[in-house]
Amino acid sequence: MNIRLHFLPPWWVAVEDHFMKRTHHCNEIRLEHIGQVVTLNGWVHSRRDLGGVLFIDVRDREGRTQTVFDPTDLPQELFDRAAGLHSESVISVTGKARKRPKGTDNAKIPTGEVEILVSEMEVLNTADVLPFPVDDPEAAAKVHEELRLKYRYLDLRRPEIARNLRLRSKAAVATRFFLDEQGFSEIDTPILFKSTPEGAREFLVPSRAHPGEFYALSQSPQQFKQILMVGGVEKYFQLARCFRDEDLRADRQPEFTQIDIEMSFIDREDIHRLIEGLLKRIWKMTLDRDIAVPFRRLTFEEALNRFGIDKPDIRFGMELVDFTEDFKASAFKVFSEGVSSGGVVKAMNAKGYADATQGQMEAMTELAKSFGAKGLAYIKVENGEWKSPIVKFFSDAEKAALVEKLAIEEGDLILFAADEWLNACEILGRIRLYCAEILKGRGQLAIDPDRFDFLWITDFPLLSFDKEINRWCSSHHPFTAPVLEDIPLLTEDPKRVRGQHYDIVVNGVELGGGSIRIHQPDVQRTVFEKVLELPEAVVKERFGYMLEAFRFGAPPHGGIALGFDRLIALLCGCSSIRDVIAFPKTAKGADLLSEAPAQVDAKQLRDLHLDLKVAPKKDG
Ligand code: AMO
Ligand code: AMP
Repeated sequence: MNIRLHFLPPWWVAVEDHFMKRTHHCNEIRLEHIGQVVTLNGWVHSRRDLGGVLFIDVRDREGRTQTVFDPTDLPQELFDRAAGLHSESVISVTGKARKRPKGTDNAKIPTGEVEILVSEMEVLNTADVLPFPVDDPEAAAKVHEELRLKYRYLDLRRPEIARNLRLRSKAAVATRFFLDEQGFSEIDTPILFKSTPEGAREFLVPSRAHPGEFYALSQSPQQFKQILMVGGVEKYFQLARCFRDEDLRADRQPEFTQIDIEMSFIDREDIHRLIEGLLKRIWKMTLDRDIAVPFRRLTFEEALNRFGIDKPDIRFGMELVDFTEDFKASAFKVFSEGVSSGGVVKAMNAKGYADATQGQMEAMTELAKSFGAKGLAYIKVENGEWKSPIVKFFSDAEKAALVEKLAIEEGDLILFAADEWLNACEILGRIRLYCAEILKGRGQLAIDPDRFDFLWITDFPLLSFDKEINRWCSSHHPFTAPVLEDIPLLTEDPKRVRGQHYDIVVNGVELGGGSIRIHQPDVQRTVFEKVLELPEAVVKERFGYMLEAFRFGAPPHGGIALGFDRLIALLCGCSSIRDVIAFPKTAKGADLLSEAPAQVDAKQLRDLHLDLKVAPKKDG
């Protein structure tokens, strides 16, 4: 449809109503098209002026093609116009496809054997000088991310980001088809929700119609999807937007997307099978890769014992080994006294890192201390000697145990943690990842970038003790069901209660998590009031509607949510989820393109019954 705007001045002819539409995409022209007249629509990717002949690479979303402007064949006016174009101007070019002269082929692009000898060109829009180049991937990669986010539309033209968004779309389609085949209904749930401050901090939205009251943006559809189960839906899914006001990192955004799933009349095995099938389909449809199912499983305890973390990267070894028994009577008091006071001694072998400098050892010790370690005992195995301030205390039997269990060789660095079980595991777990990064950088640890190690982590403790507030908190969320036989322990010995919670982990990334839920109102009330120690009035205010719903026939149910952005980042091999989100926010939660968050005017605040305690910014 052409819309002629009557108020435009008469010179408004630069952009024609009818432009020559493309006959081909810019990745399509091959030797077989030689002699054909074709039209391409796209952007001026790069320009070279070779002895009066102008070469313009035209790029569209699919690829690029070289076009040639020869002044001997073209009206001077058209040639001059082409010569004056800035990069990223939008054009339509028409011309005859021909073979490139010998020696000028470009093997790097699929259209590298041909070029278009231009006979007509329309400028559909001109571009100003760009804030950064988009035609050179190496140069673009060096541009500061803040500048790229400010001009995100230019960044989106880079083939890498464009590919990521295409793949994201394919994964979304594969998800919908798969879950539809499995009988799931896609149902939207509200984004404006009620504040239920558990887990991450919420974004609040003041209500105009209800002075002094607020909505919260939904952190996840958790409560709604459970209510849908009470509503008889049985199989729900949603590509759900979630909002969390938390400290951001490369794998966290304040708004992100989940593949959110809930099912009734099922157990953990059903969820595992479903997700294995879904991920198998997604990997096939996006990367044409066949992944092996079922996935491996580790209990939380085993993951901590061996890798020191509940989202282990199992693509490399350097596992943690327990030496509690071996050192319980050691002359090295740090170890023996640690054991007698109920702790453990654990060690790991950072293979080939005996040459760590004093500075690197200190950095590692500081890292360990930042996670609560009291120290980081070590042994460097160099020139056949064990260099360490502590081996003088070790008996022959203790040394023999170390050699055997850690397969110690020349060049190794052994690191120890003596602490409470969880602390010791977590400290060495961090050190393991730290050493792996260094050894990777030095070429001593090879991790195949194409490898995907899928892993279920199960049998999490239902609760963890929060020393700051001096009470038990849910490890996952308060709706997670305890393992049936542990229900009596809820009030007697909360530490020992296992939850029916599972996480899915890929290459050290927590891809998703879920659980079988509590569906009996009395168990849910016990968890809220007796275990989490929430006052009755608070429970009623925050969760009363859920407890009430459960009294009217709640089926047994459970579910899971996969971080969709993290999933795509894994598929694309990106280290930051910002590279797979069209309009991501910075680490400080800012949208640099639209400059959000921003100030609002006084009337808006009045309408919302809000008074600000901070002075308005001058430039706002
Ligand atoms: P959970 O809070 O574990 O569970 O979230 C599930 C998955 O969502 C992803 N994720 C994020 N991705 C990007 N940015 C963030 N800020 C962010 N936070 C979480 C992670 C995570 O594994 N309702 C429950 C699920 C359930 O029990 O069914 C939930 O939201 O990949
Ligand atoms: P110390 O006897 O305190 O001088 O400690 C000797 C070595 O043991 C030093 O390298 C400390 O960093 C280390 N160390 C001290 N406490 C611990 C601990 N709990 N776990 C591991 N190493 C420790």
